[in-house]
Amino acid sequence: MEVIIQPNPEAASRLGARYIARLLREKPHAVLGLATGSTPLKLYAELIRLHREEGLDFSRATTFNLDEYLDLPRDHAATYRRFMEENLFRHVNLRPERTFIPQSDLPGEKVAAYCEAYEEEIRRAGGIDLQILGIGGDGHIGFNEPSSSLASRTRIKTLTARTRSDNAPFFASPAEVPHHVITMGIGTILEAREVLLFAFGAGKADAIAASIEGPLTSFVPASSLQLHRRARFLLDEAAAAKLTRQDYYRWVFDQKPLWQNP
Ligand code: GLP
Repeated sequence: MEVIIQPNPEAASRLGARYIARLLREKPHAVLGLATGSTPLKLYAELIRLHREEGLDFSRATTFNLDEYLDLPRDHAATYRRFMEENLFRHVNLRPERTFIPQSDLPGEKVAAYCEAYEEEIRRAGGIDLQILGIGGDGHIGFNEPSSSLASRTRIKTLTARTRSDNAPFFASPAEVPHHVITMGIGTILEAREVLLFAFGAGKADAIAASIEGPLTSFVPASSLQLHRRARFLLDEAAAAKLTRQDYYRWVFDQKPLWQNP
């Protein structure tokens, strides 16, 4: 794992965007795994800037989002489809038919087959080259809540009370937050060839310390990234504050051979 501590979310997001831009330049047909939430907003803004000002081309790329609420009409303002349209898709040249996000208005009896088909679609696209992740305050990734199987695949999950209340600001009232979601599994995420996890702010410091320096456990889903060959954590100072080996991570980053930088 590579732990990269930057002075602020802007700097971490700019660096993250450079990793993505490098991948797209080397492999225009790259498959990107995308995340929602407030954390990747600056990253998406920087990708849009690179597209507009430096010609970063998304026209041959494919994207798969991690997760989506269930029991929401497709046109609901809080769907992750809407989030992605507003914060990335409509501003870059991704082909709409190459942007995959689980469907929010599926009837219950169709969910299991739909989730299998989502996994199949990822395989057909050649697998995910680079997965972007945020992290919940309890260490969840996607919507894989604590105790999710480390081998899990795309499936329906029930949100914890904490995640529902964390996500309530995006809804008209807390009661409106759905109880159920579709999320890629931890096993699905671990198959991405490369992972970039972003975490900003003091509210993520405990989850980050547990994920990077704690034991591998399904109780902290992001700790599963300890098993990944190419996982990078891009942190601001506040999110990194509870790591015991901060000096070492900074030293490693400063010593990186120039050719390794994006
Ligand atoms: C939700 C999303 C996650 C995201 C998390 C943190 O649960 N499903 O993908 O990482 O929220 O959100 P934020 O970035 O707003 O802190």
